[in-house]
Amino acid sequence: MKIRRAFKEDIPRLCCIEEKCRFCPKWGEKGFKREFENRVSVTIVLEEKGKVQGFANFWLFSDSVDLNYIAVAKEMRRRLAGSKLVEKVIEYARKNGCRWINLEVNRENLPAVAFYEKIGFEKAGIRPKFYNNQYDALLMKFEVKDED
Ligand SMILES: CC(C)(COP(=O)(O)OP(=O)(O)OC[C@H]1O[C@@H](n2cnc3c(N)ncnc32)[C@H](O)[C@@H]1OP(=O)(O)O)[C@@H](O)C(=O)NCCC(=O)NCCS
Repeated sequence: MKIRRAFKEDIPRLCCIEEKCRFCPKWGEKGFKREFENRVSVTIVLEEKGKVQGFANFWLFSDSVDLNYIAVAKEMRRRLAGSKLVEKVIEYARKNGCRWINLEVNRENLPAVAFYEKIGFEKAGIRPKFYNNQYDALLMKFEVKDED
């Protein structure tokens, strides 16, 4: 598995991955394109055998990172691709002196909540009815520690 920065040429594949995810925000081509124009935004992709099989998008601020989006193609799940993408996000955070990584996740998205908890994210609050005025968002945060 290889992780690299995304190119605009990856956008169709990112759309294809997100289309198949139940809880994904569905950015579509426009949404992914917009991120390339945002100077705090970073999109990374994970390649397996030359094919993009997952991605993560985050915003890098001076003291924290907002992890906006992570998704792995269905056929690649539970093979640590998601964990590798988050490890890379943590590496970016550490290199930029960020202490916290923050995210919001639909409380109903139990696989994602379990995934984040396994990595070490902690629950930090709730935004009631945040999604479609129906589902709560769970706020989670991860403390970036110095490497030993
Ligand atoms: C959440 C997601 C990114 C995880 O990616 P992944 O590559 O499958 O995760 P990993 O293989 O790195 O999983 C690491 C650990 O997280 C936990 N985990 C991952 N998926 C899980 C699931 N479906 N149910 C329970 N625990 C899960 C497990 O502890 C797992 O370790 P294990 O396989 O040894 O038990 C993936 O399920 C996904 O793309 N979901 C759809 C998109 C989404 O909901 N994104 C989050 C909101 S934007």
